[in-house]
This record gives sequence, structure tokens and C-alpha cells, in this order.
Amino acid sequence: MKPLSDAVLHSKKSSIRKLFELFLKSTDAISLGIGQPDFLTPDIIMNGIRKGLDNRKTMYPPALGIQELREAVAEKFRTENKMEWVQPENIMITNGGSQAIALTFAALTNPGDEIMINSPNFLSYFYIPSYYHTNLVEIPRNTDYSLNFQELEKKVTSKTKLLIINSPNNPTGYVMTRDEIEKVVGFVLEHDLYLLSDEVYEKYLYNGRKCHSPASLGGVEDRIITINSISKTFSATGLRVGFLAAPANIIPLMEKYTQYTAAGVSHPVQYGALEGIKHGNPKMDEIIQNYDERRKYCLKRLQELELECAMPHGAFYCMPSVKKYMYSGDQFSEQLFEKQKVAVVGGDAFGSYSEDKIRISYATTKENLEKAFERIEQFIKGL
Ligand SMILES: Cc1ncc(COP(=O)(O)O)c(C=O)c1O
Repeated sequence: MKPLSDAVLHSKKSSIRKLFELFLKSTDAISLGIGQPDFLTPDIIMNGIRKGLDNRKTMYPPALGIQELREAVAEKFRTENKMEWVQPENIMITNGGSQAIALTFAALTNPGDEIMINSPNFLSYFYIPSYYHTNLVEIPRNTDYSLNFQELEKKVTSKTKLLIINSPNNPTGYVMTRDEIEKVVGFVLEHDLYLLSDEVYEKYLYNGRKCHSPASLGGVEDRIITINSISKTFSATGLRVGFLAAPANIIPLMEKYTQYTAAGVSHPVQYGALEGIKHGNPKMDEIIQNYDERRKYCLKRLQELELECAMPHGAFYCMPSVKKYMYSGDQFSEQLFEKQKVAVVGGDAFGSYSEDKIRISYATTKENLEKAFERIEQFIKGL
């Protein structure tokens, strides 16, 4: 038999999905592993989908998404994210933020292009580039998880095509400051790069932090792709609706690619997303307050357990080091699950610079967090 695709064959199966499978098989396990908010999808979205179904929106949708939703997303980007240049022709509706990332690669890259990310980072960024035969260049983050600009300058080459940023960040919880965003934009302009800004956690902010969209700054309109999704804001990871804003000359490439590979996003579900985008999540303030309490609780417990952790100001993750107790985060995660049935993700899933770390997701109830930390404490005592 002739060989299968090297790029796909050699990419790892998502360790988070594997963990989730293990978790589902166990009766008394607690998961701090999956990046899925634990509140219910708001009724406005459910009713919007029902309306879509009642109106028999079950035929092929436009490949770029329904016009009403593209208009609502453009309006959201202009008003909430201060991206004044955005018009409906800059918008595409995608199968989650995940497809938006893949479409960026499909439309922008050629084999051999170099893609820069700061690391640790969201795991899809490590595998999607290889599917498009591009080369990933990882920049280790500073110890507080901020972007290391000196390293960025050292590693940029004539082959560098795209820089990816994700703020608020999965897995570190780091939120870039306005100053950092300005520096990123300066860097991108100076080296003639494209910029992918993944803002799926834009609403999950604590300590007065703000999400600054680089596309709101002047001069990058022709080289920036801004990605977002309803998955995290509306706790709707299963609906698979994302969206992006890109320069008008890039959208037709994405449209063509989608026509042949996905043929669009579920038609009735787009009517649910439309209601969500138009009205926002009515419970967001309450949710953030609740998540902030959980975040503080995790940080307090980590400190008590002497697990060093840079302060997370956003998303719903924290990423402590387990160096004090064990050589690798993966080992820690495996043994913790085996002995105490608590699922956390080992740092290796997030790149080459987080071997000694684990990712904890606090998108679960306070009771679960309390129980999980009790078990982590027992686990550490038994080492
Ligand atoms: C940083 C980041 N970007 C994008 C995604 C993709 O989200 P979705 O495809 O559900 O919209 C995720 C999901 O966890 C994420 O953490």
C-alpha cells in the first residue's frame, strides 16, 4: 500500500480529546481538562435556531454565511472591537474558530512559509501549519507569559509569512496589554507579515483587563485576520459557528476553499448565532464574576500547594509549573488521573516550552474545583 499523508499521520491526536474520552469512561472523575464553559447556551440562541428550522432553512447556505449574520458580525467588530474599517464583505462565517484558523492558512500560505507563535499556546496552532506544509517557529514566552519581543526579532526571517497571537490566551490566561498589541502591529508592519489575532476568549477578562483588537489600530487593515466564535462567549461549543474579519481581497480565496471543502456552516444554526451576536450574552457579567471567583480560588490553592503560577488575567485557564514535585507535566497529569481521578492537561500539548507545566481549566463548578484541589493535595502528599 502507498503511504498515507505524513502531515496528518504524524500529528498527535489531541491529548485533550484523549483525556475527555478517559474522563467519560470513569464514574468518579473530575475534569479540569476541557476548555468548555459550563453554563447553558442562552435561550435567544436556541430560539433563533428554532426560527431557522421553522422557516425551513435546511438548504445549502451561502458559502460566506448568511447576509444578516455577516452584517451583524461587521457591526459587532466596528462597535465592540473598534475595527472601524470592517464591512460585511470583510466577514466570513466559519465552522467555529477552528475552521477560521485553517482557512487563514489555506488562503495565505505556501509550502515552506514560516509561521511564528509564542509558546505555550493553543494546540491547534501546532498541527494546522503542518497540514499546509508550512514551518512553525516557536518563540518561548517570558516567565509571566508575555511575548518575548527580543526573541521574536531574532527569529524572524525573509520566509516568515504570518504571526499568530491569541489574547486572552489558552492555555496561560495571559492578556496582552495595549502597549504589547501596538508593538506587535509595529513588528508586523516592519517585517511585512500577516497577523492572525484569535480573540475567542475576548469576554473572559478579570482585574479590569481589556481585550485590544490589533485590527482597531491603523495601518494593518490589509494584513490582519481577526477570529472569533460563539463557542466560548455563549457556551455553544457544539453549535460550531465562528467568524472572521479579513481584508476584502482575502475573503474570496476563503470562499472558494470553503465551497469545495465544507460548503458552508449549518444554515439554521446561523440564525441562532445571529440572535447571539445581535444581543450579546445577557448573563455575561454574572458569568465573569463567577469565573473570577473560581480563578481566585485556584490561585489561592495553587499557592498553598506551592505550585508556582504566573497570574492569569483572562480566559478560564491557569498554567502552573509542577517542577517542584515532578519532572514533567505529562507525568503529573497521568499519575494524578490514575491515582486521584482528576483530569488536567500536561504541558507538552501546548508546545516545546511547557514540559514542566500543567493546564488547569476552571470552567467547572466551585464544588468540583474544591473536590479536585482536595484530591490534588492528597496526590502531592503521597509523592
Ligand atoms: C485559542 C482558541 N482558539 C480557537 C478555538 C476554537 O474554538 P471553536 O472552534 O470551538 O470556535 C479554541 C478552542 O478551545 C481556542 O482555545
